[in-house]
Amino acid sequence: MEVKELVRRTILTVLIIGVCGMMTYVFADEPPPKQEKEKSELAKLMSGIDKSYKAVEEISGYYKYSDNDWKVIAESSENIAKLTKMVISKFSRPDDQKYQDLNKTMLTEAEKMYEIVSHKGEQGALEDAQWQVRRLRQTCALCHKHLGITIYPQLYPGKKEELHPGQTEIAAPKETNIPKDW
Ligand code: HEC
Repeated sequence: MEVKELVRRTILTVLIIGVCGMMTYVFADEPPPKQEKEKSELAKLMSGIDKSYKAVEEISGYYKYSDNDWKVIAESSENIAKLTKMVISKFSRPDDQKYQDLNKTMLTEAEKMYEIVSHKGEQGALEDAQWQVRRLRQTCALCHKHLGITIYPQLYPGKKEELHPGQTEIAAPKETNIPKDW
């Protein structure tokens, strides 16, 4: 009789715990707040910018560009400009002048890069294009620094140790330098 009661109670307890567990699941499944959605859309645009940036960075060490390389530069810079315009119109932050300015800088640098492609036959065009890659990179770095975003290891997995010491420390942006840890 006593044993039967014990078993009954145990089963009941297990059932209650089970239901509680399920409830946590159900309630944890709430849709994310609105802020999250806006974030991920900006992050998507950023990923597109990143893809194009990496395409030009990858070839930036070449001593000579082929027609195909120039095509990559034209397409990438055009894409960065297009996506930056979307960032500017959809995700402006009127209360953050530096963010606004750096977005405009990113657009200008991308447009300059695109412009250089039309002079690709001229002397110095290669160096000009390479310079623009650095200008762009600096803009990315400055804005991420400004916002305290440190995503360098995420951008370049595997290069963390070599290029990114002191991940937690966010130093003030240096306008003249190109920070490595962005
Ligand atoms: C004016 C500011 C600004 C500039 C310039 C900028 N970014 Fe960003 N970047 C951001 C912000 C803000 C986020 C965070 C987006 C989010 O998660 O909502 C971000 C996030 C990212 C991410 C992470 C996206 C993800 O999937 O979470 C990558 C990659 C990135 N940026 C690459 C770049 C590259 C490459 C450049 C330069 C060509 C650049 N960014 C220039 C503001 C900027």
